[in-house]
Amino acid sequence: MEVTRTFAETRAKYEGTVGLLPTLGFFHEGHLKLMDLLRDRCDTLVVSLFVNPTQFNVEEDFDAYPRDEGRDAALAEAHGVDVLFAPPLEEVYQGVSVTTVEVTGVTDEMEGRHRPGHFVGVATVVAKLFAGLKPDVSMFGRKDAQQLAVLRAMVNDLRFPIEIVEAPVVREPDGLALSSRNVRLSSQNREQARAISRGLFQASEQIDAGERSAERLEGTVLRSVRGLDTDYVKLASQATMKPIPELDQPAVLAVATSVGEVRLIDNVALDFIDGKPVPDRGVMLDEPSELTSMP
Ligand code: PAJ
Repeated sequence: MEVTRTFAETRAKYEGTVGLLPTLGFFHEGHLKLMDLLRDRCDTLVVSLFVNPTQFNVEEDFDAYPRDEGRDAALAEAHGVDVLFAPPLEEVYQGVSVTTVEVTGVTDEMEGRHRPGHFVGVATVVAKLFAGLKPDVSMFGRKDAQQLAVLRAMVNDLRFPIEIVEAPVVREPDGLALSSRNVRLSSQNREQARAISRGLFQASEQIDAGERSAERLEGTVLRSVRGLDTDYVKLASQATMKPIPELDQPAVLAVATSVGEVRLIDNVALDFIDGKPVPDRGVMLDEPSELTSMP
C-alpha cells in the first residue's frame, strides 16, 4: 500500500478502474467493512483520510477528533487498500478556497437543521475529492442516510460521472451502530445507547406487521429513547429527506440523540421491494468492536 499526500501523486498510482472511499479516519469495523465491499468493485482501491475542518460545527469537535495515521495505515493495508490518500490541509483548501457546494432541499430537515453548515462542508470536500481523484465508483454508508442523499443530489446536479454505491449500517452485536464517537461513551452511556437501535428494530417489526403511520412508528422509537436528549425522530422520504405522514415510498426512520455528551445518529432504511417496505437493519458484528472500545 502507498500513502500519498497530493491529488496528482494519487492519480499516478492508478491501474484500471478506481474506487474511492472517503473517510475522516480513525477506522472502526464499519469503515473496514466498506473497504472490503468496495475492494470487490474496482481495480485500484483508494481510501482518503482527511479530517475536514469545514464540516465540524464547533471547533473543539474538530480539534478533539481522534487521529492516528499509523494505526489507520496498518488497518487499510490489511484490508487490501492500494492507496491511502492523506493530504495536508493546504492540498485540499489551497490559498483562500472561495468555492463551496451547497445542496438545497434535502438539507432542510434533520441533520441539516441541527448542524447548520455541516452539509456544505461535506459536499464541498467530497466534490474536491471527486474532482481531484476522478474515481469511477465511490461508496458511502447508510449510517449517514442524509449525507448519502446530499451526495447523490450533488453527483446528479454537477454531472460527476461517478457511480455511488451504498453500504449497510454496521452494528455491534447488541445493535448499536458503529461510530468513532462510541469510544467516548462511558459504560453507563453505552448501556443507554442500546435504546436507539432497539427502538428502530421495534419499529421495523411493526412495519413488517403492516404499520404505516409515521406518528406511531416515531412514537415507538421516542418511547425507547425516553430520558435521552433527542434532537429528532423522523420518518422521511429517501428521495427528499422531508418528513412523510405515511410509509408509502422508500424512506428512512432516522434518529439523532445525545447520550451524555455524545451525539449519536442512527436509522433504518425502508426500501420498497414488490411494493412493500422492507427494513434494512444493517449487518451485525459477531464480536463486540475492538476498535471503538476505550483505550
Ligand atoms: P466518516 O465518518 O469517517 O465515515 C466514512 C464513511 O463510512 C461514510 O460513508 C460513513 O457513512 C461510513 N460509515 C461510518 N460508520 C458506519 C457504520 N457504522 N456503518 C456503515 N457505514 C458507516 O462520513 C464521513 O466520514 C465524512 O462526512 C466524509 C464523507 C468522509 C466527508 O468528509
